Amino acid sequence: MLVALTITGCGPELVTKSPDPQVEPDDPDPTQTGMHYITMDVDALDTARAALAQRDPNARLDVVETNDGVAVVSYDAQDFRALSELMHSEHNRCGGFLAHDSLDDARVALRSKLQERVAPLIGYTIDNAATVQALLPQLNAANILTSIQQLSGGAGFATRFYTSAGGAASTTWLRNLWQGYAATRPEVTIELFETGWAQKSVIATIPGSTLASEVVVIGGHLDSIVSGSNVAPGADDDASGIATISEVFRVLMEQNYRPLRTVKFMAYSAEEVGLLGSKQIVTQHKNAAINVVGVVQFDMTNYQGSTKDIWLMQDFTNAAQNTFVGNLIDTYVGATWGTDSCGYGCSDHASWHNAGYPTSMPFEARMTQYNPTIHSTGDVLSVSNNTATHAFKFAKLGVAFIAELAKGQLGASTNTAPTAAISAPTDGASIPVGTSVTLTGTASDTQDGPLSAAIQWSSSLDGALGTGASLPVTLSLGAHTIRATVTDAGGLTTTVSITVTVTGTVTELFRDTFEGTTAWSPTGLWHLANNSACASPGFASATHAMYFGLDASCNYANSATVAGTITSPIITGVVATSNLAFKFFRQVESASGSFDVTSVEIVAGTTTTTVWTRSSANPSTLAWTDSGAIPLSAFAGRSIQVRFRFDSKDRISNAFKGWLIDDVVVTR
Ligand code: BES
Ligand code: ZN
Repeated sequence: MLVALTITGCGPELVTKSPDPQVEPDDPDPTQTGMHYITMDVDALDTARAALAQRDPNARLDVVETNDGVAVVSYDAQDFRALSELMHSEHNRCGGFLAHDSLDDARVALRSKLQERVAPLIGYTIDNAATVQALLPQLNAANILTSIQQLSGGAGFATRFYTSAGGAASTTWLRNLWQGYAATRPEVTIELFETGWAQKSVIATIPGSTLASEVVVIGGHLDSIVSGSNVAPGADDDASGIATISEVFRVLMEQNYRPLRTVKFMAYSAEEVGLLGSKQIVTQHKNAAINVVGVVQFDMTNYQGSTKDIWLMQDFTNAAQNTFVGNLIDTYVGATWGTDSCGYGCSDHASWHNAGYPTSMPFEARMTQYNPTIHSTGDVLSVSNNTATHAFKFAKLGVAFIAELAKGQLGASTNTAPTAAISAPTDGASIPVGTSVTLTGTASDTQDGPLSAAIQWSSSLDGALGTGASLPVTLSLGAHTIRATVTDAGGLTTTVSITVTVTGTVTELFRDTFEGTTAWSPTGLWHLANNSACASPGFASATHAMYFGLDASCNYANSATVAGTITSPIITGVVATSNLAFKFFRQVESASGSFDVTSVEIVAGTTTTTVWTRSSANPSTLAWTDSGAIPLSAFAGRSIQVRFRFDSKDRISNAFKGWLIDDVVVTR
């Protein structure tokens, strides 16, 4: 292992005080000289000043930066020994400070330290016992044992070193294993992540159902290393971790596990040479702004070196998620556990941690008691007595971690329809015309949770009304069927309805039945027609209507493009509940595209707004038809004119009856 930090006091702890005995003190390196940047707790700054004063009573302590209880301090290496001793005697702290090669390194360490206490991205709940308890009995230690045996030489590659042919062969071997497990799950993908060297990283993705954008990562490293050797079995480091997560994956596939969140299994290449493989993947996820909500790393799971089973590394990990993992062990694994620290970014979780993602690293032993054979040709299965009993506990933890963080259930995707209810107004309610009423409803779905905000409201009289859990509307006069419709993520729809009657009389601001003279100003082929022979009847209310068309031929075909408008007198008194309605008889050509456009505009001052349009793309209505209520709320308080416009757009296909208008009404 790589000791990334140049000096420690008597142990690797910086901030967190582990209840467990620490490694023996490392003496400060006597070769260290000159100014260095160290990180330490702010509550020990006085101790740092005292240590400094032993040599130079006038010296001032240079605190470069502090954040959340941790300080970056510039410190002379010749004072390290005094500091270390004072820290031990005054704070009973092992070391209690860390020296860094540069200010940048110190700041990285500070950020990394702070990251451990960053609030979680999601709430941690343990409420998916049915799924976890159904999965756990399916785990089989024999499969873990076989995979370790295969990876550590049995499959024909003696090393998994990242640039070696063996490394490449291990990629193929693992890809094939995972593909076999996922054979019955077409939505699950197994991908080789390009590294730029012989061994690739392998990623299996189980897409989430309702929370697919949130990603849970479970990983280990595929590579092995023995300095200067072509034989690197790495049975514990880290064939054990890869075998552990592979058994988890096998059971999830076989049991048809369907997560709500997306789950990614990752076998990183090139961990042993500086976390290179995981850094690439983390960069890709960071750049793509992928919302990784939790990461767990299994690196060395099959050597029981300590009396307690599982050790949760406290550094380069997230405190809240670690608490959750401890609870998972207690609830589901039935193993004993303790806490320890690597003292440096000892595995791929550090790549995620340094990019701001919450991680955990459950480890096989306390830091002083891990498998002593790693990184040697002696890291073979017999060191673990040719069993996988220790790794088996980690597989259980892997199952629990996924099923409680990504949630979801077993079995074919059983989508059930949402439920919906309308709570207001009451069914059968009477509402005086012109009053606003708030439509209120609730909807939820077993798979998707609450859906109230997605309720779509409609009225049998007024059409689509809007969306939401509560929606204020002003309904038009008459008996309405009010429908609340909700559709779940799986496409199942539920509709519930009530009837509501809007009573009273509507005040008319304007009515024109076109009997007698008209103040409308016609252009084009528009004219007043007395019982037109071109429609049957020639009016909606006896006996006159406005007609765009030629009385003689009952069409608008005069070898030219024809267009024209009629514009009403000025109408005042428009309020938020005002509506426009009219009756019409309309026959135009039938064609996709927009020919023979019939539209209604509201002229208010200098702005003209189209409020109704039909064209050749809409069917003709060879019978008098009610337009229904066209809301004029946008024109409340304005003086308006109503304008009907006909535009044939072209010279051809104009031998149709055209457009007749009658009974134009604007209400309050
Ligand atoms: N599995 C080890 C890390 C480890 C060893 C953790 C012992 C806890 C106890 C890992 O594969 C490894 O060797 N990592 C490197 C990390 C470095 C290249 C960034 C190490 O520790 O030197
Ligand atoms: Zn390792």
